[in-house]
Amino acid sequence: MPSPQPTPVPSEAAARVRRNTFILAMAAGLAGLMFGLDTGVIAGALTFIKEAFSADDRTLEWIVSSLMAAAAVGSVLAVFIADKWGRKGTLVVAGILFLGGTALCSLAPSVPVMIAGRVCLGLGVGLAAFAAPLYIAEIASQDRRGGLIASYQLMITVGILLAFTSDSLLTPGGHWRVMFGVLAVPTVLFLLATLVLPYSPRWLMTKGRREEARTVLLTLRESAEIADEELSRIDGQLAQQETPGMALLLSSSSFRRTFTLGIAMQMLQQFSGINILMYYAPVVLGRMGFTATQSVWSTTALGVVNTLATLVAVALMDRWGRRSLLSISTFFSAVAMLGFGTLLWIGATSLSASIAAMGCLILFIAAFAVGQGPLPWIICSEIQPIRGRTFAVSCSTLASWIANWLVSNVFLSSMAVINDYGVFWCLAAFNLTFFIVGLLFVPETKGCSLEDIEQKIASGVRLRDAGQ
Ligand code: BGC
Repeated sequence: MPSPQPTPVPSEAAARVRRNTFILAMAAGLAGLMFGLDTGVIAGALTFIKEAFSADDRTLEWIVSSLMAAAAVGSVLAVFIADKWGRKGTLVVAGILFLGGTALCSLAPSVPVMIAGRVCLGLGVGLAAFAAPLYIAEIASQDRRGGLIASYQLMITVGILLAFTSDSLLTPGGHWRVMFGVLAVPTVLFLLATLVLPYSPRWLMTKGRREEARTVLLTLRESAEIADEELSRIDGQLAQQETPGMALLLSSSSFRRTFTLGIAMQMLQQFSGINILMYYAPVVLGRMGFTATQSVWSTTALGVVNTLATLVAVALMDRWGRRSLLSISTFFSAVAMLGFGTLLWIGATSLSASIAAMGCLILFIAAFAVGQGPLPWIICSEIQPIRGRTFAVSCSTLASWIANWLVSNVFLSSMAVINDYGVFWCLAAFNLTFFIVGLLFVPETKGCSLEDIEQKIASGVRLRDAGQ
């Protein structure tokens, strides 16, 4: 028997739903902005912090990387808090931590207080980075989910860019405390926005609060019929989500494959060296003979390239496909890192060498942003089976933070051991490894339904063939 056709939806209702979903997703996407602001602000502040506290390289590495270590802890805590207090509750806690961290960093009288502030910010970033995409995915309707999640990555890059710009404006006066202090403004906005967000309907359903879930969903879907149909689908999914992640990992070889690919992609993304530039670009450019002001403005330019190229990625992802974007991205990232390392090896500080160095960094950032940036997040959520999705995504997010911490914690010291050019050549090798891993294992998931991908992987085909 043919299934009954849903009643046609009046365009007014469709516009109302689009508006409500967009407002909620933007409010949750502010979490992405906070992620970018709080991780990006350190780049311009570092030189001044070094002077203010007479800090050596090791201390600076701890100041930078304590945020990532705390974010790793935050991403684990997030799994429990997001279950107990909901995604909204998790974002509120993140907002409070952002506020505390901002106050501690901007007023820090000593290195330990500064590190305590970075730890608060890191815990907040870890919580928010887990809860916000989850919240967006749970409130968005199927046809808008991809775009809304990709926009979350865009918000991260906008946050980084705003932080770089404000750092650049404050650099001539050396106002590093203000660099942190101004973040109080978006932080308060974020906190207020999270306070008025409704709970995610799916989370309400896991807590047996069906009527509340229905009330929220009615504001986000075109008709009561669509909302009720979705509630029954959530019922069905909740019924089969019983297997704990660890047990699934032990019992299912196909889950072990997707789980490993997710972790590998997140770690390789970090080993590409992206965050060395996000956190240490002014230091690196200083080594090429750039002055402090030239370095921070060049860093801002890198932030602009990052945001623009992420826009290109959002536009091309569903047209060119994942595999080709990943290959182009990792290949040119490797070339750019090799080129930059070679310029450092030659040791030239002439104007043309500086221009060539900036060219390599711009190429790297643009190449990163069109593929390597968004793809680990996209592929991780696409290839994991429904029963192990939260577990696998939280483990790969944890892997990302651990790798991020590792890279930012050893960067300055490794330059002292294998020279600055040696570090960049190693990064080129990691990008090449990602290129090869992409060719061998990453499936083309463009246009495939999640159920199809899951079914193909479970039937034992090679991961690379699990998509189109
Ligand atoms: C990465 C972050 C990075 C950002 C830069 C994200 O995909 O996970 O570590 O700072 O991209 O745009």
